[in-house]
Amino acid sequence: MSHADDHVGTRRDFLYYATAGAGTVAAGAAAWTLVNQMNPSADVQALASIQVDVSGVAEGTQLTVKWLGKPVFIRRRTPEEIEAGRAVNVSELIDQSAQNANDPTLQATDENRTLDEAGEWLVQIGVCTHLGCVPIGDGAGEFGGWFCPCHGSHYDTAGRIRKGPAPQNLHIPVAEFLDDTTIKLG
Ligand code: FES
Repeated sequence: MSHADDHVGTRRDFLYYATAGAGTVAAGAAAWTLVNQMNPSADVQALASIQVDVSGVAEGTQLTVKWLGKPVFIRRRTPEEIEAGRAVNVSELIDQSAQNANDPTLQATDENRTLDEAGEWLVQIGVCTHLGCVPIGDGAGEFGGWFCPCHGSHYDTAGRIRKGPAPQNLHIPVAEFLDDTTIKLG
């Protein structure tokens, strides 16, 4: 077997579509006060939580940040994207779980996947639930959300899998707004 053949199986690893954005990220070390001997060290705790300034994210755009080694998509949705997401009945979905780490029991309604009540902010782990490629955003795919070109998975404007081999909706990490323009991940 040639050296090149050795690497055929890992080609998908090179398909990485990150979107540049205008926000800034700060390690949330100050947020951790409950460090004791039973917990991981303070520097590990700091990595587990970051704060993201989203003041520069315009409507209809996405900021991608790296968190715990993975891309996280922070999208500020348009009214049309919100409307499209909310018009979908959960019974139509391939994966009816919201896949929301903030509450794993939730159903995959649009409302249960967004960070704010108005549905403007959608925060997701940017890793396809099929085999782990990074999907393309900005309205890509047949459902106007994200598209994974590796094997053709289409996600809708709420990041829910609608067509293709991916078995689950894009995962939503633990996240919250600390103030109007700061999102804390973890
Ligand atoms: S990894 Fe996304 S469709 Fe296969």
